Amino acid sequence: MAMISNPNKKRILSGMRPTGKLHLGHLVGALESWVQLQDEYENFHLVADWHALTTGYENTSDLKANTIEMVIDWLAAGIDPVKSPVFVQSHLPEHAELHLILSMLITVSRLERNPAVKEQAKALHLEEKFSYGHLGYPVLQAADILLYKANLVPVGEDQVPHVEISRELARRFNKLYKTVFPEPEAKLTEFKRLPGMDGQRMSKSLSNSILMADSPEVIKKKLRRTITDPLKIHKGDPGRPDVCPLNIYNAKFDPPTLAATREGCLSGELGCVEHKDAIALKVIEYLEPIWEKRRYYETHLDEVKQIISEGDRRAGEVARATMKQVREAMKLP
Ligand code: TRP
Repeated sequence: MAMISNPNKKRILSGMRPTGKLHLGHLVGALESWVQLQDEYENFHLVADWHALTTGYENTSDLKANTIEMVIDWLAAGIDPVKSPVFVQSHLPEHAELHLILSMLITVSRLERNPAVKEQAKALHLEEKFSYGHLGYPVLQAADILLYKANLVPVGEDQVPHVEISRELARRFNKLYKTVFPEPEAKLTEFKRLPGMDGQRMSKSLSNSILMADSPEVIKKKLRRTITDPLKIHKGDPGRPDVCPLNIYNAKFDPPTLAATREGCLSGELGCVEHKDAIALKVIEYLEPIWEKRRYYETHLDEVKQIISEGDRRAGEVARATMKQVREAMKLP
């Protein structure tokens, strides 16, 4: 049996819910750091399809297609599936088994205090519709992380409370039974959040995002629609780069011109439309190699499926070994 564990490398578990094609916020906020970390660490990439059920259990018809689209974006962004297994949560029942065990080790009131879950329930107006499974979202996430004995979990700030719950559960398990799990640490992604076309956080549900797979024409059009400084109405009016999303795009996609465009904006010499079009070109240039890889995988879907089943196999070996230790530590009959 091929062993994949490299004892000299620390482990990472990173995951996303399969919501379909990813946007630039996913790319610069998460995927790029996954790619950077894949040499230094052993990195497990999880498609969290059960997590997607917490808000999408009524309509599951897109889950399969969304999983494939998301994995294609991962691969196009540079995830190397030979170095880093790419696998699907629901293909490995060990996630459900560990979730059930961990769910005994945490109180309902602790879960209700979790600010991330509270905010989501409020934003989606769930109130009475808030499910038992949704409350347990971070427990399932802890199972994802602990199954692979991950040391690090790359996440955005909003996910830090979830990782904290994973740490608590690891400590609690180790103390009650036997030391099985390392305490995972959240690794915050460096790049500042990419704002959407409306200046708010880029999010699919707000329809303010540029997709990694958008065409050059769509990217140009979306950038044209970006809301810039509301006080800069005409070219010639001085603008405030620090309240304008274009400034952040400029910093990411065209750093050499940043100082000059800030000055041009402040003085009013640089018009917003001109600035938008210049940035669109840079975004397109940035994405071209990603599109090329995307086109390859779109036309080799069998290869994508093969990558996932190989990822399932490799992740499954680790998950089964951990569950064996868990059952032994707990003295389950
Ligand atoms: N909760 C993450 C999100 O909403 C997805 C996720 C599931 C995850 N399991 C994980 C992230 C484990 C990191 C580690 O995006």
